Amino acid sequence: MNTSGRSFRKSSIRMRRDMIKPEPLQNTGNSRNDFSYTGFDGDMLDLADVMVEQAVGYIGIPLGVAGPVLIDGNEVMIPMATEEPSVIAAVSFAGSLVARYGGITTRASDPVMVAQIFLEDMGNFGAAGVDAVLKSRDAIREHLKPILVSMEKRGGGWRNIDARWIAPSRTLAVNLRIDVRDAMGANLLNSAAEAVSPLLEKITGGRVLMAILSNRSWNRTASARLSIPIQELGRNGFDGAETARRIVRAARVAREDPDRAVTHNKGIMNGISAMALATGNDTRAIEAAAHAYAGRHGPYHGLSEYWIENGMIHGSIELPLPFAVTGGAVGFHPVTRWSLQLLGNPDAPGLSRIAAALGLAQNLAALRALVSEGIQRGHMTLHARRLAYDAGARRNDIPDFAAIIRSEKIRGRDSAARRFTEWMDAKDV
Ligand code: HMG
Repeated sequence: MNTSGRSFRKSSIRMRRDMIKPEPLQNTGNSRNDFSYTGFDGDMLDLADVMVEQAVGYIGIPLGVAGPVLIDGNEVMIPMATEEPSVIAAVSFAGSLVARYGGITTRASDPVMVAQIFLEDMGNFGAAGVDAVLKSRDAIREHLKPILVSMEKRGGGWRNIDARWIAPSRTLAVNLRIDVRDAMGANLLNSAAEAVSPLLEKITGGRVLMAILSNRSWNRTASARLSIPIQELGRNGFDGAETARRIVRAARVAREDPDRAVTHNKGIMNGISAMALATGNDTRAIEAAAHAYAGRHGPYHGLSEYWIENGMIHGSIELPLPFAVTGGAVGFHPVTRWSLQLLGNPDAPGLSRIAAALGLAQNLAALRALVSEGIQRGHMTLHARRLAYDAGARRNDIPDFAAIIRSEKIRGRDSAARRFTEWMDAKDV
């Protein structure tokens, strides 16, 4: 890296790019150098620079739109940012399966989040600190009024407080429950937790160790449900009833085998995380909450359930979905604004409900493929397009050459590149 003695951190984004660009620029065989893909658009560079520290550019993760998926009677087109092929196709596939049977119905709880304040050095007071905090509930609420006033005007704000003595570490945990309406809530919760810390020290005689929101988000859940006739699952030579029976068994295995459950839930999150990224939501907070929920009864388990009744297969899912429609990157990055508009500008619980439906749709498609033809067939079809690009195909040549890859069952990059050169030479003749 050539800094010429300048501070990398204090330089402008354009100077930082100069400092880190590969010298000499490597020729990758593409018409553009790899480094140029890290930033081209001036506005986007400025945006990156105000969003993160030491920014040098941006990465163009593909943005697709799945759907339509019928959710609570509305046809929804779902923006998804993901690097993984077949994820968007799977949602669209599930969307078309459920469309004629009422689609997916959803529910969401109020968007209540928890802020935690931990106190140490409680002396003899120890566990009695719990009572002291609960007795001071009204004073604590009063103390937080200035911070929560705008949220209360929007219908959110203070909900409750509880406290717990953590005996092994001799720490008092105080949990504030706050309804954050359309926000993810991190800023408000952290401000409230920090503002109330001195008062809690007075009430308990302890010393605040730290104050921060909890990403567990168990009070902010959404659920979704679908029902389709079992024969609808019959395709590509597989019997519908048998496929339905196997889906039920597969979901049960995910409830009983944690190794399988992690993959099952990863599939559910394929969709949810992709919509989270497209809408500028905190993908890590959403993932962390979902996986913690999957372990709430002890062993980690699958988040969805399926059962067969009266010739129908029914599926359901419930998980914490702390989605926001304002704050942070949401609504700040222009693509997130566009994504929310495409989704019909829902409120935060509305977006969480779409996310629950998306997770269930994703899961149904993955399980259907897994218990019938296997996951690789759908993957390979889409993988062929990628291999075609990698071999050098661009624009209209991509689908044409992908078809050759599929029909000739070409697997590796080198064979694809060789075959592409032959194909192009033959086209030139
Ligand atoms: P197929 O039967 O080959 O699809 O399935 P098709 O060509 O017959 O098309 C059927 C419908 O699928 C289409 O209807 C579309 O709705 C949709 P049409 O429009 O033709 O009337 N569809 C597409 N939509 C958009 N773009 C496309 C496209 N192709 C089909 N290119 C499919 C193909 C991929 C849908 C199927 O194989 C599938 O659902 N596979 C599951 C894919 C998946 O879950 N991928 C995630 C990555 S794997 C993973 O990470 C999760 C996993 O490990 C989770 C777990 O273990 O539980 C599997």
